[in-house]
Amino acid sequence: MIDEILPTAVLGAEFFGDEPDAWLFPEERAALGEAGEARRREYTTVRHCARRALGGLGLAPAPLLPGVRGAPRWPDGVVGSMTHCAGYRAAAAAHRSDVRALGIDAEPHAPLPEGVLEFIALPEESSHVAGLSRHTPEVHWDRLLFCAKEAVYKAWFPATHTWLGFDGAVISPAPDGTFHARVLAPAPVQQVPAPREFDGRWLVRDGFLLAGVASSALV
Ligand SMILES: CC(C)(COP(=O)(O)OP(=O)(O)OC[C@H]1O[C@@H](n2cnc3c(N)ncnc32)[C@H](O)[C@@H]1OP(=O)(O)O)[C@@H](O)C(=O)NCCC(=O)NCCS
Repeated sequence: MIDEILPTAVLGAEFFGDEPDAWLFPEERAALGEAGEARRREYTTVRHCARRALGGLGLAPAPLLPGVRGAPRWPDGVVGSMTHCAGYRAAAAAHRSDVRALGIDAEPHAPLPEGVLEFIALPEESSHVAGLSRHTPEVHWDRLLFCAKEAVYKAWFPATHTWLGFDGAVISPAPDGTFHARVLAPAPVQQVPAPREFDGRWLVRDGFLLAGVASSALV
């Protein structure tokens, strides 16, 4: 499922539920610290997925430790992203020479809780979601907007090390399974310019909603 929304340069891996044979490096276990069973399982299974994705790139298993603001630290020369929601875990990775920024997110395909859309959506996004909901009511466009925003943040943050709020990018989803994101937040001054636009894909299947962005653009 995850591979369907990612370009061919990106290797994805997913798991429905939790992989009983998944394991952690000692330093990953230490980084997790005291965690409840549900958190330990998602953290472990998503890293199992990540190691499969790395293997698809021809790379050996490596510890994936949380870094600044929780962003995972991928091996040198690799960009990647991880996501988990109830019943689903996925990871994606690519060589940095092919992909500059990568973000994926999974959500249950259900309406957002009351009041959340108003919190996360820019006015133009709210009216776009309302229009899409009228024409294609079988898709929970409010949740899709949220999912796409999370995917954009996961691509943006490792590329810039700066926060991007929900009003920091305008997302335009389309019924054909694509979306576009335009970053409104000021670009941080850095050696490699931050991406200003992202083209993404989304998918609804088996009660899950997935969104992913992968950018090779330098502007
Ligand atoms: C960080 C955030 C995106 C995580 O999303 P989520 O739907 O809550 O959780 P998911 O299960 O999909 O993803 C969690 C994984 O994201 C990754 N992640 C966490 N922080 C991250 C960051 N700053 N950058 C990139 N990836 C990050 C981690 O791999 C984490 O899993 P792990 O802790 O097991 O390693 C979300 O909590 C958040 O802070 N959002 C606010 C920012 C935002 O979305 N802005 C919108 C911009 S338009």
